[in-house]
Amino acid sequence: MNTAIFPTPLKSHFIVFDALLIELANRGHNVTVVTPFIKSKQITNYNEIDATRCLKIPDEFFKINYTSNTKSGVFQLLKSFKFAIQTNDEIIRCECLQQLIHTNDTYDLLITELFITDVFLAYTYKFQKPFIMVCTLPILPWGSFKVGETDNPSYIPVTFNDISFDRNGPTFVEKLYNVAVYLTAMYHYYWEWIPQTDEVIRRHFGESYPSAHEISKNVSLILTFSHFSLNLPRPHVPAVIEVGGLHIKKPHPLPQDIENFINESKDGVIYFSFGSLLNGSSMSIEARNAITNAFKQISQRVLWKWELDDLPNKPINIMTKKWMPQRDILAHPKVKLFITHGGALGINEAVYEGVPIIGIPFYADQMSNIKTMINFGVGETLPYSDITTENFLDKIKTVINNKTYEENAKRLSMLYKDRPMSAMKTAVYWTEYVIRHNGARHLRTAALDLSWFIVFNKLYSQSISTKK
Ligand SMILES: *[C@@H]1O[C@H](CO)[C@@H](O)[C@H](O)[C@H]1NC(C)=O
Repeated sequence: MNTAIFPTPLKSHFIVFDALLIELANRGHNVTVVTPFIKSKQITNYNEIDATRCLKIPDEFFKINYTSNTKSGVFQLLKSFKFAIQTNDEIIRCECLQQLIHTNDTYDLLITELFITDVFLAYTYKFQKPFIMVCTLPILPWGSFKVGETDNPSYIPVTFNDISFDRNGPTFVEKLYNVAVYLTAMYHYYWEWIPQTDEVIRRHFGESYPSAHEISKNVSLILTFSHFSLNLPRPHVPAVIEVGGLHIKKPHPLPQDIENFINESKDGVIYFSFGSLLNGSSMSIEARNAITNAFKQISQRVLWKWELDDLPNKPINIMTKKWMPQRDILAHPKVKLFITHGGALGINEAVYEGVPIIGIPFYADQMSNIKTMINFGVGETLPYSDITTENFLDKIKTVINNKTYEENAKRLSMLYKDRPMSAMKTAVYWTEYVIRHNGARHLRTAALDLSWFIVFNKLYSQSISTKK
């Protein structure tokens, strides 16, 4: 019997875990999940504990609109994570999570998130069972810290930093910036988030509970949403398994109207979506007009995920819908371009299908996802604040008319998909591995028992001595 605790109210995060949990249930594991995303249909072996009522979403963190976050950089983001940490107490107070503190039920395996959600590690300590963490991004710096892996910021870009290195490594300025982001992140983690988290854990679970950071060092495995072909090679320890694209299933047939709209296009189709958090209604009228005017002047058709009933001045080559089967649309050979906010799920789907992108980033890891695509020659970016009819049109024509974008995208797609096992098979294999061996203590490196100072000192002197 497994239990999974994912009360983070971010749909894009849950989609990744849920793909794994459903697969485990299909394979006969009895899965229990604490979640605010309740399904409309029952799935065999998949039991939900409803956390809908526990979640108070901090405005500062989760409510994103077109203007509030376009300027905020990575330092601001790290600071704003504290709002999420401050809701820990309220979340744990929630009835369903209180019951789980006092339950006599047992579970063979626990699965929880690696994000800013260390408070849930207390449950792994309560149940005294092996646990896995799932990170819906490339591994976070404080995640590497939990398994004693080297994540030297002089050549490894900090996840969701607003820069991204190309294959040749960082420039000197990028390196300095990356080190500053790394140190800031570790400062927040170690001196702010962990003490606040520990306070909440001891309040609810008991004074004898160890620090969340100490508990986390017993993690059996970390599954990360990354792949070396896209997110650049990193020296992972054996306890970190890359499962980038975990959520990508075989494409389903498209709804008839969308399929006809695409098939009947003469010069192909552009798919345009800003994901699940940004709402169309908050887009400025100027930007909206600039975009519709640009679309009017191209020979391609456009599928636009637009959340309102009406799109003023809608050109005839546009079809809007409040929801679109994005993964299936991107799989259609006539889809030539994906205009996106750069969220990790969509980027991985575009890479999988070899579709070039234009990225309009707003928040978090979006900027670095888009820069990664630019480095591979499979995309361009246009800041939201720079959108005019001319700029938008110019970017579209650049990416569609210059065949190298498509060729690079097809090449990247081949590298991304060429794996011994699919991301899902890999994730299932390693999850069952942990169950089979009742934990994976043999994967734990001795670095975890050294202080960070010694580990860094060694790293640093190594890098100096190899420079000769
Ligand atoms: C639409 O195009 C796709 C891909 O080219 C093809 O597989 C499908 O059969 C076409 N559908 C219709 C209804 O013509």
